[in-house]
Amino acid sequence: MAPEKLIELAKEAMLRAYVPYSGYKVGAALLCADGTVYQGCNIENAAYGPTNCAERTAFFRAVYDGHRDFVSIAVCGGKDGVITGAFPPCGVCRQVMREFCGDDFVIYMVGAGNSYEARTLAEILPFSFSPAEHMGI
Ligand code: THU
Repeated sequence: MAPEKLIELAKEAMLRAYVPYSGYKVGAALLCADGTVYQGCNIENAAYGPTNCAERTAFFRAVYDGHRDFVSIAVCGGKDGVITGAFPPCGVCRQVMREFCGDDFVIYMVGAGNSYEARTLAEILPFSFSPAEHMGI
């Protein structure tokens, strides 16, 4: 799938964000190895801590449905849904990616207009704690 299509789906997902506290809308579109795409948005909480990021919403929906092989994810976000710069996934979401993805998993960080930056998981999460290397899974 072309990155542009995945990015379009991430932007669509951003519209579902539940963000009464930060007003910061985030959307993600996760491409599975079989071509299925799972969309996710951030879902905030009055207690703040239980907030779920868009990327994890997409991953958890996919894993619940039985998917374990992933190719790439597009992520976008901005205050009130206005995208002003490339969106880097938070550290917790990077670790969730590590659970299910190899070094070559690609993250498309969506910027303003039609721009985006592509990085591999190895690039954005070097020297990481991994299920294979550290847990023998
Ligand atoms: N957020 C995400 O959805 N993904 C990230 O990778 C970083 C942050 C959300 C959480 C919160 O609802 C809002 O952005 C502001 O932190």
